[in-house]
Amino acid sequence: MGSPEDQAFGLLSEYANGFMVSQVLFAACDLGVFDLLAQAPEPLGAAAVAARLGTSGHGTELLLDACASLRLLAVETQAGQAAYANTALSAAYLVSASPTSQLDMLRYLGRTTYLCWAHLAEAVRQGRNQYGQAFGVPSGDLFAAVYRSEGERLRFMRALQDVWRVHGRRLMATFDLSTFPVICDLGGEYLPVARASRCQAPPRRPALSVPGCSGALARECLSLYPGCQVTVFDLPEVVLAAKTHFSPPEGGPIGFLAGDFFKDPLPEADLYILARVLHDWTDQACSQLLARVHQACRAGGGVLVVESLLDSDGRGPLPTQLYSLNMLVQTEGRERTPAQYHALLAAAGFRDIQDGGTRGLYDAILARK
Ligand SMILES: C[S@@+](CC[C@H](N)C(=O)[O-])C[C@H]1O[C@@H](n2cnc3c(N)ncnc32)[C@H](O)[C@@H]1O
Repeated sequence: MGSPEDQAFGLLSEYANGFMVSQVLFAACDLGVFDLLAQAPEPLGAAAVAARLGTSGHGTELLLDACASLRLLAVETQAGQAAYANTALSAAYLVSASPTSQLDMLRYLGRTTYLCWAHLAEAVRQGRNQYGQAFGVPSGDLFAAVYRSEGERLRFMRALQDVWRVHGRRLMATFDLSTFPVICDLGGEYLPVARASRCQAPPRRPALSVPGCSGALARECLSLYPGCQVTVFDLPEVVLAAKTHFSPPEGGPIGFLAGDFFKDPLPEADLYILARVLHDWTDQACSQLLARVHQACRAGGGVLVVESLLDSDGRGPLPTQLYSLNMLVQTEGRERTPAQYHALLAAAGFRDIQDGGTRGLYDAILARK
């Protein structure tokens, strides 16, 4: 236990060293440690890992031991030699072939987000994102900064879908969306052919629009609500990249529409999903967007907002407070409480506002026109 002073110093050290923990995780993913161990028929020693990854024996041993203490690896001693294997956590989330792999998000966090966080104090001082400081790019047009190169755009698009591999199904099942049957996809790139072929029937009801790029939530909608149709509405460069790199099946239940949701006509639909979109923007921009959605929405239709929600008093949970700071360093927005989203939705004319109430890392709010 230790004295209160010891405990306080322990906590301080834990916080101060938090970035080292993240870097251990990022480096082990970048080097391919978890993929290598997933493919090995038996646990491997540090020398064998180093030989196969082309890394130093010394550095590899230190990294693997740190991973073991973080429970990212299991270690057993055979004839006095340590041998490493994946744990359930790393097998589920840190191996590329896993259906719940988070590797693309971790890559984005390590190579992009981390660099913006290096300027957190400046972001707090200025009250604005740090693309200028971190990457030397102007951020007057937010997504021109986010998508400052094709590589960065693809990295972002791939990263964003990872969390929905884990939470997407639960979120899309929070409300019964079967009365909004035609679904608008944000990247049908990962739609398995088998699922696509189950949804080939032409839409019988109006479209459900999903602004965004990943397509993973739309895929869950297609799986939960067979017969639906999905339209992906996103910026032209995102739609082009999705079509070029991820080859959605032509004529399937997923279609793309390129445009700027602040300026261009929105497709008529009976449900619009705004997943991690409002948190990118100021209240003023959110109001503008929601008013446009309300105008385009059919009577009886609605909007599904998917976001990480702050507690009603804003005092937690910590992960959402940290995401809010992340919005500060990377966007123009913030995370909000349910009441703040309710107020934005009501001001745009939406009614019957319902909370999903799951209080997971992400939650859904459904509102009707
Ligand atoms: C934070 S991402 C969320 C993506 C997806 N909804 C998800 O949850 O994974 C925000 C999305 O909004 C899109 N976006 C940003 N500004 C836009 C605009 N003016 N018009 C259309 N889409 C826009 C981005 O390209 C991106 O796909």
